[in-house]
Amino acid sequence: MENRRHLKRIFICSLTAVSVVIIYLSTERSEHWTALLARTFPTSKSLVSSSAVPQWEDPGPYHVAYPRNYKFIMDETPTCKTTTPFLIVIVPVAPSEEATRNAIRNTWGKEKVVLDQLVETLFIIGLPGGHNAEQQQEKLEQENEQHHDLIQSNFQDSYHNLTIKTMVMLEWLVQHCAKASFVIKVDSDVLFNVQNLVKLLLDPNTAKQNYMTGLVWWHSPVIRNPFNKFYMPRHVIPESEYPPYPLGMAYAMSLDLPRKILDVSPQIKPIFIEDAYLGMCLKRLGISPTQAPEETMFLVKPQHPLSDCNLSKVIAAMTTEISHMQLYWLRIRRGAHCPSD
Ligand SMILES: *[C@@H]1O[C@H](CO)[C@@H](O)[C@H](O)[C@H]1NC(C)=O
Ligand SMILES: *[C@@H]1O[C@H](CO)[C@@H](O)[C@H](O)[C@H]1NC(C)=O
Repeated sequence: MENRRHLKRIFICSLTAVSVVIIYLSTERSEHWTALLARTFPTSKSLVSSSAVPQWEDPGPYHVAYPRNYKFIMDETPTCKTTTPFLIVIVPVAPSEEATRNAIRNTWGKEKVVLDQLVETLFIIGLPGGHNAEQQQEKLEQENEQHHDLIQSNFQDSYHNLTIKTMVMLEWLVQHCAKASFVIKVDSDVLFNVQNLVKLLLDPNTAKQNYMTGLVWWHSPVIRNPFNKFYMPRHVIPESEYPPYPLGMAYAMSLDLPRKILDVSPQIKPIFIEDAYLGMCLKRLGISPTQAPEETMFLVKPQHPLSDCNLSKVIAAMTTEISHMQLYWLRIRRGAHCPSD
C-alpha cells in the first residue's frame, strides 16, 4: 500500500516535470513556427502593410530590429554643431522620465567647463508608446524648446530596445562629433563625477584612440536560465562567455570608436543586451576594453551611503534613488575628500 502511494507520487512528479519541459520547449519553438508560417503563407494584411512601412525580418525575442534606417526626428541641439566639446555625455532615458532629466540638468548635467575642458550633456530617446503617446511627444517637444538637449530617433522606445538606442547614439556621434575627443554614456540612475572622468581622460597614460573604459567584465557568462531577464539560448550565442565589455551603467570611449563599431556591426546581429553587444563588436575589431585604473572609479552596486572618501574617488556609481544622486553630487561639489589625502 505504502509502496503504491510512493510510486504514484513519483509518477505525478515525473509527469509534471515532463509537461514543464514540453511547455517551455514549445514556447521557445513557437516563435520559429510563427515566423515560418508567416513566411510560407503571407496574409493579405502583411502584403498591404509591406508597402507602407519598411519590412525587415522579425528580430524575435533575443535580437533587436536595427535596419539602419531610423531617422532623427528631434535634433536641434547646438552640441558639436556650433561647439567642439572635449567630452560629450549622453544619457539614454525613457521619454516619460522628465523629472530624472531635470534632476540631471540640475546636477552633473550642468557642469559645462571642467578642468578647462568643454563638457556637454545630452539625452537620447526613442518614440513614446502607450495610449498617450501623442501627448508625451508634445511635452517632449516643449521640453526640448526650453533645453535643446534632446536627441530623438524614430524607433519604439523600450527597455528591450536599448541596443537600438546605443546604435543610433553612435550614428549621431559619427554624423556630428568627429572633432570632439571623448563620449561617455551614463545611465540616468547613476551619480557621475565629471571632474574625475575628465582628469582620467586628460592623463597622458590614457589612450586617445581605440579606447573604451568603465567597469570591464572579463568573463561575463551567457545566462542559460530561462527565468533570468538576460537569458540567452545556445542557438543565439553558442559561447559560454561574452567577450569583455564595460558594464552599461557608464562607459567612456574615444570618438574614433563609434565609426569603427558601426562599420563592423552589420557582421554581428544585434542582441538586446547592449553592453555585451558592444563587447562583441569590439572583439571583431580586435580592440580590448581598458579597465579603469582604480577599482574605486566605477561602482555598480556599492554599499550606500557612500563616504566622502568614496565620492572623492568615484567616476560613476549606481544609485537607487534620484534624491540620493542629488545629495551625493552636492557633497562632491562641496569638496568631498579623503581624510588621508
Ligand atoms: C523596438 O523598436 C522597433 C522599431 O521601432 C519596434 O518595431 C519594436 O516593436 C520595438 N520593440 C519593443 C519590444 O518595444
Ligand atoms: C567606501 O569607503 C570606505 C572607507 O571610507 C571603504 O571601506 C569602502 O570599501 C568604500 N566603498 C566602496 C564601494 O568603494
